[in-house]
Amino acid sequence: MLKARAVAETPKRIMAGGRRRRSGFGALLLGLIALTACSGPQSALDPAGDGAARIASLFWVMLGGAALIWILVIGLAVYAARSRPGRDAERTASALLLWGGLVVPTAVLAGLLTWGLALMADLRARGDGLEIAVSGEQWWWRVDYRMPGRDAPVASANEVRLPRGQRVELVLTSPDVIHAFWIPSIAGKVDMIPGRVNRLVVEPTRTGAFRGVCAEFCGESHALMAFSVEVMEPAAFEEWLGQQAEGAAAAATPEAAVGEELFSQVGCGACHAIRGTAAEGSIGPDLTHLADRATLAAGILPNDREALVRWITQAETIKPGSRMPSFGMLPEDHVEAIAAYLEGLE
Ligand code: CUA
Repeated sequence: MLKARAVAETPKRIMAGGRRRRSGFGALLLGLIALTACSGPQSALDPAGDGAARIASLFWVMLGGAALIWILVIGLAVYAARSRPGRDAERTASALLLWGGLVVPTAVLAGLLTWGLALMADLRARGDGLEIAVSGEQWWWRVDYRMPGRDAPVASANEVRLPRGQRVELVLTSPDVIHAFWIPSIAGKVDMIPGRVNRLVVEPTRTGAFRGVCAEFCGESHALMAFSVEVMEPAAFEEWLGQQAEGAAAAATPEAAVGEELFSQVGCGACHAIRGTAAEGSIGPDLTHLADRATLAAGILPNDREALVRWITQAETIKPGSRMPSFGMLPEDHVEAIAAYLEGLE
């Protein structure tokens, strides 16, 4: 009888083993897929800056520690469920409470706190000279490069360029609502609070294109305010900044020349500045070197002719709550001409 039951149970056990192996394989596959999400231009776990590297190491140590403690606790629970209470069960329980409930957590948390505070120690130290003032607007980023020895800052928008290996101080503000400035690959995030000036020193460690975001709900287009980040070799950065400090390029084609004329007629210059022309507005982004940027409308559109036309005619639809009105009433060839002019602003 017993033998027969054992034989009858064997296929069930084999099937259960197969299922276990399959679910184990599935978990491994899911884990690998999840790990591939850890890299890329916007990942805090694929650091390209000193601050992000510290945060990543803190994360991995905490993850490893949490896994270890979890295994320990589950092991204890299994042991407790299986063992029979002995004569000195009460004494063992008290010791477990003392060590597991008080001594170990206090030691682990105190160690983590000490290490975490040590990681932050020089994050607020001064930079190497270059300051970049970034202001969170509704819903875009005003970016001004302030170089030592130069009076006027170089105005840009929706893009932050950084020299590799240098400590750059970011001066973070906002005129109206609270945003959070975050370049996950490079450093931790810092709030931009009206009436306050917050500082963040970043030190990029490798060149490349990265992505920054607003990490705090700030209004209807919160999810539509990103920015591109480019880390360059210091010499290339200096050259780029020198070029940015210059005025705008003259219109290179007849169509662009018409566009330049229309730009001022329609009133674009009331909100936008194009250095070297009569356009001196400061409500919207500085467009002096617009064509040089990777994206349009704060990281949400590619920087090409088609997107320029779409943005000019449908700004309020593309970015709800945007202060840029939609100029859908303009004749198509006028919009095309303005786009041609903007496209030439390298
Ligand atoms: Cu700005 Cu969210």
